[in-house]
Amino acid sequence: MHLVIVFLLSALLPLSHSHGLDSRAWDRFLGLRPLGSQQADTKRGECPELCDCPSSFSVAMYCDGRGLTAMPSVPSHVKYLYLQNNAITAVPDSALINANSLLWLMMHHNQLTSEAIGKKAFLKLDKLERLYLQHNNLTSIPSNLPRSLRDLRVNHNKIEKVTPADLEGMDNLTVLYLHDNAVTDMSTSLKSLKSLTLLDISSNKLTKVPDALPENLYQLYLESNSIDSLPQDFLGRFTQLQYIRMSHNQLTDKGIPANTFNVTGLVELDLSFNKLERIPVVSTTLRHLYLQANVIKEFTLGSFCSIVDVTNFSKLQTLRLDGNEISREDIPTESSLCLRQASSIEV
Ligand SMILES: *[C@@H]1O[C@H](CO)[C@@H](O)[C@H](O)[C@H]1NC(C)=O
Ligand SMILES: *[C@@H]1O[C@H](CO)[C@@H](O)[C@H](O)[C@H]1NC(C)=O
Ligand SMILES: *[C@@H]1O[C@H](CO)[C@@H](O)[C@H](O)[C@H]1NC(C)=O
Ligand SMILES: *[C@@H]1O[C@H](CO)[C@@H](O)[C@H](O)[C@H]1NC(C)=O
Repeated sequence: MHLVIVFLLSALLPLSHSHGLDSRAWDRFLGLRPLGSQQADTKRGECPELCDCPSSFSVAMYCDGRGLTAMPSVPSHVKYLYLQNNAITAVPDSALINANSLLWLMMHHNQLTSEAIGKKAFLKLDKLERLYLQHNNLTSIPSNLPRSLRDLRVNHNKIEKVTPADLEGMDNLTVLYLHDNAVTDMSTSLKSLKSLTLLDISSNKLTKVPDALPENLYQLYLESNSIDSLPQDFLGRFTQLQYIRMSHNQLTDKGIPANTFNVTGLVELDLSFNKLERIPVVSTTLRHLYLQANVIKEFTLGSFCSIVDVTNFSKLQTLRLDGNEISREDIPTESSLCLRQASSIEV
């Protein structure tokens, strides 16, 4: 078996020599160099052995999917660092000490725990814009994250709590992925995120909508939590909000104040898989409404149109009502005037 492999490889060797592969690369290819030795002889400015630093794009360093268990040393000129899909368990305070040019740090799909991230590990990265930590074993958001972040992904971890100090002063943060964690309490942590446009906290353990949601949100994803009611004037403060997903919660009619969803600007509202018995009143400007798998017993045309005439009618295009307690016969014929743009109504 070994003989065959060596034979095949030696047949390839002349070709690869002409492409300038050195013996170190061959060792790496053959798996002869032990893992864990990657930090041993790296000098400042050099590329760590297990990583690739393409000369055509020297600001990037690719160390993804190499079986790393520890941080490689990072030269100070690197802006884009790819460390995803490894088994890195810790980021000590000293790991990124020279890496003050970093713009992107990709560390998703590793084995990081919160205890193993130094309190100052990310503190000096004052240009960092993207930090990807999804699919690790974090139980909290790392402390002292750079305030320069624009895109922070910590989804698919084991985070239980988000505190105001975790996100304070992140004026430029526009995307925050927190989904698939175990968050029960957000307190007022989102308050200062004035640039935030996309917030995904789906698949957590929230029992209420987080307080102090940022006003400039464009997409709000809260599905698969245990939310049973909404605060008064929940949507009144938003100026840009177009997409709300709240499927798979515990919402009841009683928990939704009147006219909550009768706000212009909304494009899509997903309230499927809840416990609603009535169709909530929605704005005539809404385009897509998902209400499947509730316990709706009645088709109330007034939920879509309070008056119907040439100019007053619903802009709804999609309406899903399947998996409720009504059938097509329950939809009055006058509906076609109000719902004149609905190309698909499922019951
Ligand atoms: C991370 O979590 C996974 C799954 O729960 C577990 O198998 C693994 O041992 C954990 N790793 C560490 C470093 O805690
Ligand atoms: C936010 O972005 C602006 C403009 O790009 C920049 O001047 C500012 O320093 C950034 N804020 C932080 C906290 O990094
Ligand atoms: C929804 O809001 C509009 C505009 O504010 C208002 O005219 C309409 O009566 C409201 N619909 C219902 C059913 O209250
Ligand atoms: C209905 O249309 C008229 C114009 O025909 C308009 O003045 C009025 O504000 C509309 N009412 C609603 C509730 O949109």
